[in-house]
Amino acid sequence: MRGKFISFEGIDGCGKTTQIKFLEEYLLKQGYNILVLREPGGTKVGEKVRDILLDKNNFISPVTEMLLYASSRAQLVEEKILPALEKGQIVILDRFVDSSYVYQGYARDLGMEKVKLVNEIATKGLLPDVTIYIDITPEEAMKRRGKREADRLEKESYEFHKKVREGYLKLIKGYSERFVFINGMKDSIKVHQEIIDAVEKYL
Ligand code: TMP
Repeated sequence: MRGKFISFEGIDGCGKTTQIKFLEEYLLKQGYNILVLREPGGTKVGEKVRDILLDKNNFISPVTEMLLYASSRAQLVEEKILPALEKGQIVILDRFVDSSYVYQGYARDLGMEKVKLVNEIATKGLLPDVTIYIDITPEEAMKRRGKREADRLEKESYEFHKKVREGYLKLIKGYSERFVFINGMKDSIKVHQEIIDAVEKYL
């Protein structure tokens, strides 16, 4: 039987990485066969592309940025995601194509059409079975980041992160059947419980 594909989305600092770890531990205890990956990255080539994308000393044009994210994604789909789904594994992915719609298409103003065109090639049309969107305000994200050194994207202005959140909220309205909206401002254990409740419906 084909596996399941779960992606996580949200603005930088929304708590995705912690929640993915909690979900992984929970599902492993239930005996599921899990593969956790991240974007950009998740493959040898993709991790190199990630270094280029997140290096705060690089100037990268919006189109180049879109293509680099898509190239990391194309490698991940071919090398890891499709084979894992064929083996029946549950793939948990820290960001997927929705990040490109929101960050490049909306916040960088490239437009949804260009992002869609490029990413249909990169993903071969693959979409997650369910996407967990963790919502927090950009103010809360900044507070959580504290004094930790920011990467190239995290260094963007408050306005940019506000636009990213706005982009997610618009995107979710358009694809409501695939997305699960989670209020990430709550205690992390409550957030975890809500995520489990949502994911179990799809397994
Ligand atoms: P991460 O910090 O969640 O690992 O993600 C890396 C950064 O890359 C984050 O700021 C979001 C951004 N990003 C995009 O702009 N477009 C994309 O397609 C992806 C996957 C991430």
